[in-house]
Amino acid sequence: MWYVPCVSSGKRIAVIPGDGIGKEVIPQAVSVLKATGAQVQLSYFDWSADRFLADGTTVPRDGFASLAGDFDAVLVGAFGDPRVPSNVHAKEILLGMRFKMDLYANVRPVRLLDSSLCPLKGVEPKDLDFVVIRENTEGVYVDSGGIFKQGTADEVAIQEDVNTHKGVERIIRFAFEYCLQNKKADGTSRSRVLMCDKSNAMTYAGSLWQRVFREVSAEYPQLKSEHMYVDALCTQIVRDPRQFDVIVTNNMFGDIITDLAAALQGGLGMAASGNIHPGKTSMFEPVHGSAPAITGKNIANPFGAILTSAMMLAHLDFSPEAVRIEAAVLEAVRQKKLTQDVGGNLGTREAGEWIAERVRESSSAA
Ligand code: NAD
Ligand code: IPM
Ligand code: MN
Repeated sequence: MWYVPCVSSGKRIAVIPGDGIGKEVIPQAVSVLKATGAQVQLSYFDWSADRFLADGTTVPRDGFASLAGDFDAVLVGAFGDPRVPSNVHAKEILLGMRFKMDLYANVRPVRLLDSSLCPLKGVEPKDLDFVVIRENTEGVYVDSGGIFKQGTADEVAIQEDVNTHKGVERIIRFAFEYCLQNKKADGTSRSRVLMCDKSNAMTYAGSLWQRVFREVSAEYPQLKSEHMYVDALCTQIVRDPRQFDVIVTNNMFGDIITDLAAALQGGLGMAASGNIHPGKTSMFEPVHGSAPAITGKNIANPFGAILTSAMMLAHLDFSPEAVRIEAAVLEAVRQKKLTQDVGGNLGTREAGEWIAERVRESSSAA
């Protein structure tokens, strides 16, 4: 399936469900999106393991140029399939979008909707509302390095951690700007940016991050700047998540921290994310993967994908529509209209339909 560029009014959204539960949760996110009544034009792309296995294509020629040129945003499910053990298609499609479309800021909100979802005792929604700003185009993900004497006892594997001044500066600046421009769910201002690294061991990269963080933070005297090593941060996130506001970190640490943080929100099924370059076509995806073990059973939690669609709508200036989706998800949590992973007994479709119906009602009342 290829797409037809559209000329009619509304924002143009490319939808790439991908693999596994991506194909189950994205249809729910799309019906919720439609229920808001937002003026959007959707075009579907079949980039996935199925396509790769059928004809060897990961990303069709000019694929990224089309996404960047013909669309306002991209909504993605997940990539990863046991039939493709090399994960080559996921790497080329997902990391391809992040790198080739230069989506340097991976914004991963960590917000608790209801205390029943959090495995930590005594933690309430007001205690867990921070955001991880993950560098998305550099670090150990750049695929620089190599293998020498493979298969012998002398094998050497090198995976280089690439950090550029430009890359570090723009993500740190993004974090400070995010802090200034975004409020917490309770309407209070954000005020603190914490840079997380491992500069006590990774001294070269650490020195660059430390220096740039000091320089950029000096431009934002109204905001508090803080630092933690990534190992200590993991302990603190579990011990006392109240202390965090905006966390900025590199690609790999951001990946790991956001899976840990997802657990505090109720699990991977609840976590949303955006891959953003201000002013360019950005890409939105739930934090979770393709979850092969639960694929095809109608049990995957669609809320991460649904909240991701709300993030995308807010980014596209459909803020009232995004707020209606978030309110419906909050109501579903309170009324336990949930999938099994978060303590409910609804299927993927039923949970998605409940939200869509609720959004339809609130949209017609608006
Ligand atoms: P995963 O996120 O797919 O699953 C981890 C665990 O969380 C599993 O137990 C799974 O059942 C559960 N889970 C995840 N999403 C859920 C949901 N919506 N509802 C209920 N339970 C959910 O991570 P994994 O198992 O490490 O990886 C599986 C595949 O996905 C791999 O190929 C991996 O590379 C890929 N992956 C892709 C992305 C992405 O496309 N953005 C992200 C992470 C992993
Ligand atoms: C994520 C995923 C990806 C990542 C994988 C699938 C390459 O874990 O989006 O969090 O590491 O960025
Ligand atoms: Mn991850």
